[in-house]
Amino acid sequence: MHKVIFDTDPGVDDAMALLFLHHHPDIDLLGITTVFGNASIETTTRNALFLKREWKIAAPVSRGAGETFIPHRVSHEPPKFIHGDDGLGNIGVPEVIDLPLDPRPAHRFIVETVRANPGEVTLVAVGRMTNLANALKEDPKIVDLVKEVVIMGGAFDVNGNVTPAAEANIHGDPEAADVVFTAAWPVVVVGLDVTTKTVMTRQQLADIRDAAGSSRAKLLFDLSQFYIKFYESRVPDGMVVHDSCACAYVVAPHLFTTRSGSIRVVSGGIADGQTIQKPDHIGFGPSEWDNLPSQKICTGIDSEGVLKLIHDAI
Ligand code: BDR
Ligand code: CA
Repeated sequence: MHKVIFDTDPGVDDAMALLFLHHHPDIDLLGITTVFGNASIETTTRNALFLKREWKIAAPVSRGAGETFIPHRVSHEPPKFIHGDDGLGNIGVPEVIDLPLDPRPAHRFIVETVRANPGEVTLVAVGRMTNLANALKEDPKIVDLVKEVVIMGGAFDVNGNVTPAAEANIHGDPEAADVVFTAAWPVVVVGLDVTTKTVMTRQQLADIRDAAGSSRAKLLFDLSQFYIKFYESRVPDGMVVHDSCACAYVVAPHLFTTRSGSIRVVSGGIADGQTIQKPDHIGFGPSEWDNLPSQKICTGIDSEGVLKLIHDAI
């Protein structure tokens, strides 16, 4: 059983990933922590509570960061044209969801949950890395207590999706991502190199709705339509399931190939938010890249296997 804290900015593909984690038999979802990104922190937190209520998820929701790790950094408008004004495809999420939040801010929820389950917790982060960076700042010793950190973000051997250099989750808070990648805990990055190859077709999504025959699967289908429309000009048919790929890695790492090396994030300038890995097998002269922890990035994926995993779980 994998004990997971899901750090997320719901977000359409975040919603699918949450439903996957909720249903997968090998996942014990300990908590949902929210972060700004696909929408404001108020909206992503409201959406997490909405999905918790609609999908009857027991795990608590803890509200996280509403701004970047370094305060007052240039921040970017939420991508309403991808996830809708409400962050969930304009399905008309109620303004207020009458469910309590965990009293702790997300970074403290992470620290205390990790400390209560030493060596057992996998952090799955599919939004900006701000909550994780804040958790490290509050308690740097958690690096020795976390089992693994699985991240959706970054673009290594491919272009970004916000700029030619940068992927959205990293571009939204580059300094937070750099803190997370250079910390001495085991990180696996599931970036655009593999997620953009993993497209769920409209038909596959409809099949999930029909096979499950539940209002839960219907909600997933309905909230995904706006996002699919956005992707029409980018992929032949369907939706890129970025965040579900990171969740799939937790239960099925054999569906991925990885490359090890230290990772840094560019801060500022034309390549703001670019992720760079120095592969372990390539030698360079002495530099500030020395003595950084070696982390994994995903370079290959069995997309069909991942899509089947999502289908079967939901
Ligand atoms: C990432 O950015 C967000 O829009 C998605 O939810 C995903 O986490 C993809 O670049
Ligand atoms: Ca996300």
